[in-house]
Amino acid sequence: MNILAVSIIFSVLFHMPDVIASLDSEDVRNYLGTRTPYRFISNKNDSKIKYPNCKDSKIWMMIRHGTRLPSAKDILGMNSTLRDLKYEILLMHKKGKGELNLEQLKLLEDWSKHIDVEQEKFLAREGQDEMILLAERMHKRFPNAIKNKYNNKTFMFRYTATQRAQQSARYFTIGLFDKKESQGVIFSPANKVDPELRFYKHCDKWQKQVKKNPDTYVEQKLYGTSAEMNKTIAAVSKKLGLDKVLSLGTVNLMYKICGFETSWNKHHLSPWCSAFDQESAEVMEYYHDLKHYWMDGYGHDLTYRQACMAIKTMFDNFRCHKRDPHAIFLFAHSGTLLKILTHMHLYKPESPLRGDAIDRKRPWRATNIDCFASNLAFVLYKCKDGDRVLTLHQERIIKLPMCESELCPLEHLKEYFHDSIYNCDYSDMCSLDKDNSS
Ligand SMILES: *[C@@H]1O[C@H](CO)[C@@H](O)[C@H](O)[C@H]1NC(C)=O
Ligand SMILES: *[C@@H]1O[C@H](CO)[C@@H](O)[C@H](O)[C@H]1NC(C)=O
Ligand SMILES: *[C@@H]1O[C@H](CO)[C@@H](O)[C@H](O)[C@H]1NC(C)=O
Ligand SMILES: *[C@@H]1O[C@H](CO)[C@@H](O)[C@H](O)[C@H]1NC(C)=O
Repeated sequence: MNILAVSIIFSVLFHMPDVIASLDSEDVRNYLGTRTPYRFISNKNDSKIKYPNCKDSKIWMMIRHGTRLPSAKDILGMNSTLRDLKYEILLMHKKGKGELNLEQLKLLEDWSKHIDVEQEKFLAREGQDEMILLAERMHKRFPNAIKNKYNNKTFMFRYTATQRAQQSARYFTIGLFDKKESQGVIFSPANKVDPELRFYKHCDKWQKQVKKNPDTYVEQKLYGTSAEMNKTIAAVSKKLGLDKVLSLGTVNLMYKICGFETSWNKHHLSPWCSAFDQESAEVMEYYHDLKHYWMDGYGHDLTYRQACMAIKTMFDNFRCHKRDPHAIFLFAHSGTLLKILTHMHLYKPESPLRGDAIDRKRPWRATNIDCFASNLAFVLYKCKDGDRVLTLHQERIIKLPMCESELCPLEHLKEYFHDSIYNCDYSDMCSLDKDNSS
């Protein structure tokens, strides 16, 4: 059963008033990619996770910041391109063109959005809620590893030098502790250069060979001019009643704002979602998945190798029982999480994603693996027969591919990830002058 289906069932079981309770599989909001709100994905079952003869003793968790505001470029795009488009669509419908119904036209007519450019990428209110609720549920699941009372030795909170990660950490602590206690929480200082939380940002070799290498974007570009994409752009333009065919850039902007506005508002639909149907939303989702696959995923070896910088801190902490802290919460970004998931061999498609046609069976779908507040947790259990590690992705127990069961012996993981722990040298991996081969 896919994650969305599970989350729909939980929403129904727990009488969540969210729109997700009524999202059917054809709803475009199932295909919002990296702008999917966490409430669509999260696991609302927060029962304590118990295993016989075992006790949860430590936790290491990496969390993508919660729902945020758009970039400056997209904020300006809302206030120019989309504002103009709004009037054009309304005008064309007055002339009897287009396929939007009265309800959708009303939403569009009422649409206006004034976001201060100064607040680009700031954590949104929904992002605050996501963090509080996530913390509350994690706390209930692992009451021994995550103690009730804050203690500056046993807890560690770290975030990147960004407003959205910092605010995410802050609201997470409000969910863990009571309000007063959370005010006393000490956060580790944020570093502009952070090889643990944002290892790729200053990995010169990765920047050159992957991020700034046009080859990385070849498949996405190919898909951008594919027959599937052209059909999608034509269908969207026709649905909106326009005489001309929109550019991919404009369709992409509508898709992104549809995602953002769906995330921000639990109870209101974004008029920009009306431009899409299931098929066109799936095409836009795949267009973005291609980029993430080649830039943050399995496309290049160095991309996921460098994630050892983060992973080894988990092993360092788990190896020694006495070592504090016992609960580590790290607040970072999509780029961090995706590379770590790849390092752990998760969600790998059977064959590389290509730009000629959509791969509908791929497990690599940002909607499920890279939504806002995406998270990966490793929990150390002390068991009668030794130490074991439980892995949770999006709060659901997963079995790592290199393990035989979900509760995986720490020794086995240490062996498997030997190189990640002992041969993870940032300057070796990332220096350009050590690279003579290309
Ligand atoms: C909730 O989670 C607990 C612990 O993982 C599990 O035993 C229980 O079956 C789950 N409940 C539902 C309704 O799925
Ligand atoms: C939006 O555009 C209008 C007109 O172009 C301008 O007056 C206004 O300042 C802009 N608002 C923002 C938030 O950029
Ligand atoms: C940590 O907590 C202890 C006792 O609760 C306190 O004495 C100490 O000053 C705290 N350390 C920091 C860095 O605030
Ligand atoms: C799609 O449209 C673009 C731009 O109009 C064009 O260059 C490209 O050849 C088209 N692709 C196909 C497969 O028709």
